[in-house]
Amino acid sequence: MKTHRFVLAAALPFVLAACASTPSPDKKAAYAAEARTASGELIKRLVGELNDDIAKIGAHGAIGVCKDKAPVIAGEIAKKHGVGIKRVTFKNRNEKRSTPDAWEADALRALEKQLASGGDPAKLEHYDIVTGGDGKPYFRYTKGLVIGGLCMNCHGPKDSLSDAVKAKLATEYPNDQATGYQLHQFRGAISITRPL
Ligand code: HEC
Repeated sequence: MKTHRFVLAAALPFVLAACASTPSPDKKAAYAAEARTASGELIKRLVGELNDDIAKIGAHGAIGVCKDKAPVIAGEIAKKHGVGIKRVTFKNRNEKRSTPDAWEADALRALEKQLASGGDPAKLEHYDIVTGGDGKPYFRYTKGLVIGGLCMNCHGPKDSLSDAVKAKLATEYPNDQATGYQLHQFRGAISITRPL
């Protein structure tokens, strides 16, 4: 009995070391839960600001929410959760900010497939633990975004947009690819990266 206990105690540090280098499924679920919370906060705040500004000054006036306020709000949430947050899509309005990297491109395809095969539009997510270009481990998470009624004000078919929105988009985003969407269509994702 004594020998048995000794063996266990001697093995314990090795078991713990193994756990530290390969995050357990529980850890992965916990990272996903936090990323879900962070992306939910971003969506809630953006939609809130968009609705407020559209009511006050119209959709053309709310374009600044997506352009200037979205990165600031994302920055605040990123800091709070200790992660990086951005938005990515294949059809972008701002190619400097929202062009997907290779992992994000795969994730976008996976999310689009989930939606096409009947997945709940509010629950599209794809995540994994990956090794970054720097050789370090990262938890990466994407939350799919689907076009709703609010989004149609600025991402709907061109002939359905107000003249003021069209004019503002033409000056601010001459290479805009993010119009022409239909309701319930897949739009892109919130992408969260957490260094481990
Ligand atoms: C008031 C106009 C407006 C509304 C309403 C709006 N957007 Fe946008 N959206 C924009 C603008 C402007 C940008 C470009 C932001 C930038 O410069 O980074 C953008 C960018 C995005 C991006 C980043 C990718 C890209 O194309 O650069 C996503 C994703 C997105 N919008 C999704 C949505 C969704 C989903 C909704 C509805 C919940 C929505 N938007 C509602 C104006 C709007």
